[in-house]
Amino acid sequence: MKTTSSVFSAAILLSAASAARAASDNQCFDFTPMSSVSNYLGATLDYSVADRICCHNHKFAEYRGYLAAPEVDFFGRLDPSVETVFYDSVCGLPLFIAPRGRTFDDFKKESLKHGWPSFRPEEMISENVIIHDDGRMESVCLSHLGHNLPTGGVDRYCIDLVCMAGEPLSAGDERNQILQYMHQEQIINATELNTTSYTSSAEQYSGKTSNATAIIISVAVVGLFLVVVAFVCCEKPGWKRKGDEIQVGSSETSTSIHEDDEENEIY
Ligand SMILES: *[C@@H]1O[C@H](CO)[C@@H](O)[C@H](O)[C@H]1NC(C)=O
Ligand SMILES: *[C@@H]1O[C@H](CO)[C@@H](O)[C@H](O)[C@H]1NC(C)=O
Repeated sequence: MKTTSSVFSAAILLSAASAARAASDNQCFDFTPMSSVSNYLGATLDYSVADRICCHNHKFAEYRGYLAAPEVDFFGRLDPSVETVFYDSVCGLPLFIAPRGRTFDDFKKESLKHGWPSFRPEEMISENVIIHDDGRMESVCLSHLGHNLPTGGVDRYCIDLVCMAGEPLSAGDERNQILQYMHQEQIINATELNTTSYTSSAEQYSGKTSNATAIIISVAVVGLFLVVVAFVCCEKPGWKRKGDEIQVGSSETSTSIHEDDEENEIY
């Protein structure tokens, strides 16, 4: 009897859990970006791009350099003398606050160099953003945001402008339902965020995601290089395999890994 009832309640728990998981498989909880995205800060953003990239996509991005397009001019619309809070385009939760721990000019230069708004760990509202093991980033509202592409050993969050172009939801907005799926105590809503006292916990994790992939790629590149070196050695009978030459080989290898990193930075 006892066994049957506990099996029964376990079954109920399981189906509740899978229902929750099924609901959370749907990006943006099946909602769409708020309409104000299309005139974010007075810019003209393409609403259909926001809907596609943030709510129906895990891989692709708005085009590189979109933030600097004449109709967008992202940095021309920010006040360089203050920190700006950036909100999820669908659920209005705060996601980033910038510039923090660096100048406005650093924030601008880094973002323009890479072609997407780029944030650093101090600038992320860590409670509201998920970084997956493969570097993909989404908000707790399951809006796709972009990717974590660590630069210089520090996380760099390369974010689609169209997905961080929201504002706090008004009371009557149907998107408020999204927040009901969440544990309120684990997120920070727009009203709760105190920008003066807020400290991100993202620095604790910085540089730790995507490392596995980087190591696997490095090992593979080094391995391939050694195979090529061995092949060339065997092809040239006169060539001696001395310790020195292998040293030279490995320093060349590390140079080429850095070049690979640079390429990876392009979203
Ligand atoms: C924000 O969170 C606080 C604390 O959980 C809650 O009391 C408040 O109603 C929330 N505000 C909104 C707009 O959801
Ligand atoms: C925000 O935090 C600062 C510093 O802790 C505090 O002085 C201020 O009263 C807080 N503001 C609000 C609105 O709670």
